[in-house]
Amino acid sequence: MTSVAIVTGASSGIGAATARRLAAEGFHVLAAARRTDRLAGLVAEIEATGGAATAVACDVTSDASVAALAAAAAAAPGPVTLLVNNAGGARGLDPVESGSIDDWQWMYDVNVLGTLRVTQALLPALEASGAGTIVVVSSTAGHVVYEGGGGYTAAKHAQTAIAGTLRLELCGRPVRVIEIDPGMVQTEEFGLVRFGGDAERAAAVYAGVAEPLVAEDVADCVAWCATRPQHVNIDQLVVRPLAQAAQHKVHRVAVKREE
Ligand SMILES: NC(=O)c1ccc[n+]([C@@H]2O[C@H](COP(=O)([O-])OP(=O)(O)OC[C@H]3O[C@@H](n4cnc5c(N)ncnc54)[C@H](OP(=O)(O)O)[C@@H]3O)[C@@H](O)[C@H]2O)c1
Repeated sequence: MTSVAIVTGASSGIGAATARRLAAEGFHVLAAARRTDRLAGLVAEIEATGGAATAVACDVTSDASVAALAAAAAAAPGPVTLLVNNAGGARGLDPVESGSIDDWQWMYDVNVLGTLRVTQALLPALEASGAGTIVVVSSTAGHVVYEGGGGYTAAKHAQTAIAGTLRLELCGRPVRVIEIDPGMVQTEEFGLVRFGGDAERAAAVYAGVAEPLVAEDVADCVAWCATRPQHVNIDQLVVRPLAQAAQHKVHRVAVKREE
């Protein structure tokens, strides 16, 4: 029987790439996000290549919406074996001194409480499958801090704490917990969301970096972790582009300016 995988934040970037990749691996994918028009396009694309997927409108900050996601999972055509908590992002790059409470609230709600809410809702189905996997897409920002990153790094540290705590609490039960921590990934929207739609500021993050990671690289990591034999638990996978040795150490080539 086909196994069911749920991917949150599947309407763009890493989530969309992960949904495509897991469908190619043979999962029936429940692609969840708020923008259903984008999910419909993704599902059509997956189906056109012989895969199976269902779009599910879901706001991870809403109890009712996440309950509807759990109901969709219960109605899906197979055991729910994989949950990828990917919905999230950053807002702002302001110092703690002047950071926007609204931005911090958004980051905590989506990254942290979103992961908590979706995990709580899907855990019974994952456990009932007898071979469940929870993936938390946190970040290298879950391990270090940097100036201006207070709100995002606090949220990602919290997500990392959830993954670590849950792995301890589920020990002895048939659900593994995997944390994937990407460094710099060039996705279409992450920077735009962070900088309130300012495309120039968003592009500057990757300026001169020969090959930042792309969404498919992270999807590859998710797929690899999730398709190991069930007794193999990849606790944490840190993945960065070759040009990024650490958060503060990025190799950039000079970018020529038009005069
Ligand atoms: N890009 C990077 O450099 C990088 C590095 C490390 C970790 N990450 C993490 O990887 C994950 C994906 O990042 P990305 O680069 O792919 O960003 P992205 O393209 O901006 O995707 C974010 C996704 O989250 C969804 N989302 C936002 N709020 C939501 C909500 N309330 N309910 C449900 N879904 C929501 C968005 O869908 P809707 O707007 O349609 O709801 C979108 O599909 C995030 O957790 C991010 O923190 C990214």
